[in-house]
Amino acid sequence: MASLTDVAFRTLLAEIGGVGLLITEMVSAEGLLRRNRKTFQMMRGSGGDTPVFIQLFGESADAMARAAGIVADETDFDGIDINMGCPAGKVIRKGAGAALMKNPAAAAKIVAAVRRAVPGLPLSVKMRLGFDRVIAADFLEAIQNEGADAVFVHFRLQCQRYRVAADWSHAQELRRIARVPLVGNGDVLTVEDARRRLEEVDGVMIGRGAVMDPLIFHRLTAGNGNDDLESRVIPRLLELIQLHYTEPLRLGRLKALTRFLVSGRRMSRRYRQAIYSATTFEQGARNLLALADRIIDAGGAAER
Ligand SMILES: Cc1cc2nc3c(=O)[nH]c(=O)nc-3n(C[C@H](O)[C@H](O)[C@H](O)COP(=O)(O)O)c2cc1C
Repeated sequence: MASLTDVAFRTLLAEIGGVGLLITEMVSAEGLLRRNRKTFQMMRGSGGDTPVFIQLFGESADAMARAAGIVADETDFDGIDINMGCPAGKVIRKGAGAALMKNPAAAAKIVAAVRRAVPGLPLSVKMRLGFDRVIAADFLEAIQNEGADAVFVHFRLQCQRYRVAADWSHAQELRRIARVPLVGNGDVLTVEDARRRLEEVDGVMIGRGAVMDPLIFHRLTAGNGNDDLESRVIPRLLELIQLHYTEPLRLGRLKALTRFLVSGRRMSRRYRQAIYSATTFEQGARNLLALADRIIDAGGAAER
């Protein structure tokens, strides 16, 4: 997830455990080919024992294939995920992201080119139900024919954004035609949601639910209800931001990563104040840790 699943957050999730696969922020194939410094910053770090896929976006099959070659030759990523779901205007205008849902032939060409470039590397595609109408079944067929190893389906159209609920009613049909693992995505925000959805698909991808509650995977797999946001997650995330970023970037990272983390929590207003009133990373970290300590002293972790 752009600006969220960076090296600090991925490391945090890998350390907490329970997650089977992590995916980077979306990375521009063109940026990678230009060896853009910011692009390469997004490509740092590993997930330890947890596999990490890099997510690439682009509209040119040739550029995507060459970028995939660099990933295979120069990085430790365990696989590549191709972004065919991003609804952002600046991505779509170029014909990348969810624009590919309007153009299954172009999408298939990209998958085929990347597959040829990196025959040995696991390859997945993140897609939606369609752009402005549902074409997921035909799209899935085209993608798997070209050699994708797995597909992640966000059960919304591009034009829907988050205004309507993800429509999981398509899971059954897609699962019937899928010859590769079908991973469902959209509105899985709690352990209960995940359990329910896991009956409909081969796996679930959790987006906002994970940035709001990084312990969700642990609870899902270990079944234990501990919620130690204050004692464990916040202090470790702050350490990881310090470890992976130099000073001018740290405060921005703190704000981006903790914003979701504290939303919907007890004291979330205080948390937001602590985050947004800070003008330096040190101040933000001090504010957050002090508030976390107060919550612990007042009787333990905040509950969701
Ligand atoms: C801030 C933000 C950034 C996102 N960035 C990406 C991205 O880079 N690549 C991607 O495939 N999806 C991205 N998404 C979409 C999520 O991966 C996911 O498909 C969507 O949020 C629905 O799943 P959820 O209900 O579990 O969040 C992003 C979502 C948000 C809110």
